[in-house]
Amino acid sequence: MINKRIKIETEDLGEETVAEVVATITDPRKMIGPEVLFSENAARDEAAKLEERKGNIEFHVIGNSLTQKVSKQTMLWLIGLQNVFSHQLPRMPKDYITRLVFDPKHCTLALIKENRPIGGICFRMFAAQGFTEIVFCAVTSNEQVKGYGTHMMNHLKDYHVKNNVLHFLTFADEFAIGYFKKQGFSKDIQLSRSVYQGYIKDYEGATLMGCELNPNIVYTEFTAVIRRQKEIIKKLIERKQSEIRKVHPGLTCFRDGVREIPIESIPGIREAGWKGPATPSRSSRSPTHEQQQDPECLHSMLKTLLCNVGQESCCCLAVSSSCRPK
Ligand code: ACO
Repeated sequence: MINKRIKIETEDLGEETVAEVVATITDPRKMIGPEVLFSENAARDEAAKLEERKGNIEFHVIGNSLTQKVSKQTMLWLIGLQNVFSHQLPRMPKDYITRLVFDPKHCTLALIKENRPIGGICFRMFAAQGFTEIVFCAVTSNEQVKGYGTHMMNHLKDYHVKNNVLHFLTFADEFAIGYFKKQGFSKDIQLSRSVYQGYIKDYEGATLMGCELNPNIVYTEFTAVIRRQKEIIKKLIERKQSEIRKVHPGLTCFRDGVREIPIESIPGIREAGWKGPATPSRSSRSPTHEQQQDPECLHSMLKTLLCNVGQESCCCLAVSSSCRPK
């Protein structure tokens, strides 16, 4: 994934160069002062991921069933999760939590430590509607703010990408809005109301928040991939800088009152690899400059626009098809 992305963005880079840079940043012996495990800039989920790799914590999607045998282990974990939710969400009636956690239509992503659930996200997937409702989300008090909540949500996202359900909706408690925002949720819901109205439960005093998933992202790896990409770009810039020997004197024109200059006139900029702005592709949907200048074309375009915003009286057929934006 990293190699591919670099190739797209810097077409002139050889694969060998990229491989060399990747090898450099991967090999701590080649790095001066390799990044300590948890630097101050380490992502919130870093420690939780390490714990998972070591086998200290596990994530399982579990649920009750009326048609299949449910293992004793699953039942014990569901009881444990019901307790975690009841303690962390004191305003929710306990029997209501029990009902949903044990409802076969609901599932729970369970965070297990030493065979005991220490956190979880109870959800209901509406596959046909393309969204999942997050019903309860909690981590037990003494395990909070260790990155478990973030890593748990990332696992839930990966699980949904695999199941091709790409929207989350939740009614977030006032104090949890900050957490959900940090997990990519927003009050600006991307789904049309008709998709979810009547399906999800409304909670008084809570705020409806949504999160759209990108199927190209492995969320549990997201922060690590971004960090690695940044490292690669930094190394490539360092390499490029070491190749350019000539140091140009600074620009003096601004001191003389010039307000702006074309980028290409900056001495050395082309040698440094600058290629100028990308020319818009032919398939671009925007009208050309000539089209914008032609009053007849402009008239046609505005007419089309009016039609599109629902002006019944406007006769779309009269619009010249040759100038209509494609
Ligand atoms: N308000 C604002 N920010 C928060 C909150 C909060 N209540 N809780 C955590 N955060 C922040 C953390 O500081 C952290 O930020 P940072 O990355 O900038 O440092 C980030 O959110 C994630 O922290 P994690 O350690 O990954 O999350 P944690 O393991 O603490 O779990 C959770 C978060 C689940 C909200 C936990 O605090 C909890 O169980 N709270 C009580 C129950 C609750 O309020 N649940 C949500 C109710 S709404 C619902 O269930 C639909």
